[in-house]
Amino acid sequence: MKSKNIVWDIQTRVFHWVIALPVLLNFFLDGEENPHKWLGYVALIGLSLRLMWEFRPGPQKRFSAFMLNWREVKNYILELIHNEAKPTLAHNPMASWVYIFIWIIVVLLGSTGFMMGLDAFWGEDWLEELHGTLATIMKVLVFLHLSGIIFDSFKFKRQTWLGMITGKK
Ligand code: HEM
Ligand code: HEM
Repeated sequence: MKSKNIVWDIQTRVFHWVIALPVLLNFFLDGEENPHKWLGYVALIGLSLRLMWEFRPGPQKRFSAFMLNWREVKNYILELIHNEAKPTLAHNPMASWVYIFIWIIVVLLGSTGFMMGLDAFWGEDWLEELHGTLATIMKVLVFLHLSGIIFDSFKFKRQTWLGMITGKK
């Protein structure tokens, strides 16, 4: 199943990179330095724009690219185990949940990062540890995301990995 049509519109693609690049960079940048903080906020802005795009006026169904029904997740895993999984044009059911968790962790990283700068929480170890744990969870999610994309590209012999650049799948 190779689509010549655009699956991911330009807005979704731009917002993907406005979220993904700051998160990737922040894994390597010192939290005490300014670029880390500003990049974290850029990711939050990217996420806000992505959600606003989903809720834009119009007849389109909200979150139509996401398969969030648990039965679909269970069936997809069983199909993968039995080598019967079919390629999906939208996000597959497992990927859909990974993306929802990525969005939640972006919000939590941004809020805990912001809180660390407030007088009320200055020097609180638990907050720094929480931010660090959230960053570790994000690393796991990004690892799952990238492994899933590589797996999909090989399994279904298509350029899934290029999707957020070309928009095609
Ligand atoms: C070099 C790194 C990356 C590549 C090549 C990449 C590629 C992609 C592709 C191709 C998709 C669509 C998959 C599909 O067809 O279902 C996607 C979706 C997504 N990726 Fe990435 N990604 C990268 C890094 C990241 C990072 C670091 C994050 C975390 C912040 C991230 C978060 C997401 C999210 C949330 C979606 C869902 C997009 C939406 O529907 O708005 N990606 N990515
Ligand atoms: C949204 C993406 C973000 C990611 C992926 C991220 C990731 C990280 C990572 C990996 C660390 C090192 C953790 C450790 O060594 O335990 C860190 C530390 C830190 N981050 Fe972030 N962060 C993000 C957003 C923010 C924001 C928005 C702020 C502030 C406005 C912030 C402020 C800090 C500070 C102050 C530290 C140092 C904490 C310490 O002393 O241990 N971060 N972050």
